[in-house]
Amino acid sequence: MTAAATTTAPASGPVTKLFRIGFIGAGGISRTQMGYLKKIEDVEITAAADVSEGALQKAREQYNIPRTYADYKEMLSKETDLDAVSVCTPNGLHAENTVAALEAGKHVLVEKPLAMNAKEGQRMVDAAKRAGKELVIGFQYRFAAPSQLIHQQIMDGEFGKIMYVRCQALRRRGIPNWGVFGRKELQGGGPMIDIGVHCLEMAHFMIGSPKPLTATGNTWTYLGNTESKIASMWPGWDYKTYNVEDMAVGMIRFDNGIMLTIEASFVAHIEKDIWNCQIMGEKGGANWDPTQLYKDHGNYMMNMTPGYVPKIDHFEAKMRHFVEVCQGKRPNESSGEQGLMIQKMLDGVYQSSESGREVNIE
Ligand SMILES: NC(=O)c1ccc[n+]([C@@H]2O[C@H](COP(=O)([O-])OP(=O)(O)OC[C@H]3O[C@@H](n4cnc5c(N)ncnc54)[C@H](O)[C@@H]3O)[C@@H](O)[C@H]2O)c1
Repeated sequence: MTAAATTTAPASGPVTKLFRIGFIGAGGISRTQMGYLKKIEDVEITAAADVSEGALQKAREQYNIPRTYADYKEMLSKETDLDAVSVCTPNGLHAENTVAALEAGKHVLVEKPLAMNAKEGQRMVDAAKRAGKELVIGFQYRFAAPSQLIHQQIMDGEFGKIMYVRCQALRRRGIPNWGVFGRKELQGGGPMIDIGVHCLEMAHFMIGSPKPLTATGNTWTYLGNTESKIASMWPGWDYKTYNVEDMAVGMIRFDNGIMLTIEASFVAHIEKDIWNCQIMGEKGGANWDPTQLYKDHGNYMMNMTPGYVPKIDHFEAKMRHFVEVCQGKRPNESSGEQGLMIQKMLDGVYQSSESGREVNIE
C-alpha cells in the first residue's frame, strides 16, 4: 500500500513522501507512541482527537500537534490527508474507532488488545479486508530481542518438539490508578486481557503461532473491589467501580499438541512481580528473562547465555514496523488475524471461568 503523495522537499530537491498520522485517544499510551513517532523520519503527527481537553492539551504541548478535536468522527471527516490512524482509547472503543477509521480509508494501528472480545475483533478484521487497508495490533513484545532469539531457535528446530509453555505476567500489587482498567464493561476484563495478553502474544509468536483448540481457566476478585490501605506502586485506584479480576489463570491446548499456561495478576501474594515465559521442548528449552537456553551437550546439561543481546527498543520497533507496513516496505507481522487468534484465547479463558468447564475455541 502506498502513502499519500504529499511532499516535504522543494520541487527541485529529492521528493520525500510524508506519512501523516492522526490519533484517536490522546492519553498515556498515545503520548508514548507520539514520542517514538517523532524519531521516525518523514512522519508527521497531524491531528489528535480525545473527549478530554486535558489530554489534548498535554499532547499539543508535548508534541506540537497542529489540530485537535473533541470528536474523532470530525477528525476523520476533516483530515482527509491522513494516511493512518492510531487507536489508543480504552478497549471498549477499539472496535468502533477502528472500523470508522478503516471506512474513512485509513490504515490503523490499534493498541492491544484488539478489542473486548473476538466478536468485535472479527468486525475489525472484516472491515480491514473490505477497505483494503492494513490493520496492525500494537503488540511490542514480539519485537523484543529475547523473543526474536527464542523464536529463531524454535523455528530452527534447536529445541525439538515443543511440549509446554509457561507464561507469567504477575504483579504483586499493581492495579492501575488511571484510566478505566478496573471496569469490565469498558475493558472486557482485568489483568488477563490487559497484561496477560502481552505475554500470551509473545509466547504464541515464539512457538510459531499454532492454532488454539481449547481453553480452560479461572479468575478471582478479592482485593481490587475493596478500600485498601496497603502501600503499593499505584495507590488510590477506584475500588468502587472495580469489577474485573485481580488474578486469572488459563490453559490453552494447541492443534500441534503444545500446552500453554498463562498466569496474570494485578494482585498476587508472591515475593515480587514476574514477567517471564519458559519454553520446554524435547531437545531443549528457554527462559525469556533472564534470557537463557537449555540443552544437553555430550554427557552434560548446558545452560547457555547469549554473548550479546541487541539493545532493541521493542516499542520503537513496533512503531517503525507499523509505518513501514503502511508504506508497503514489509509484511504485517502483527496483523488483525493474529490479534483475533489471541482474542479467542482470552475469550476462552474468561468463558471457561464463567462456565467452570473447558471450552472449544472456534
Ligand atoms: N502497548 C502497551 O504496552 C500499552 C500500555 C498501556 C496501555 N495500552 C492500551 O492503550 C489503550 C489506552 O490505554 P491508556 O493507558 O493510554 O489509557 P488512558 O486512560 O491514559 O487514555 C485513554 C484516552 O482515551 C480517551 N477517550 C475515552 N473515550 C474517548 C472517545 N470516545 N473518543 C476519543 N478519546 C476517548 C480518554 O479521554 C483518554 O485520554 C488501552 O487499550 C490499553 O490496553 C497499551
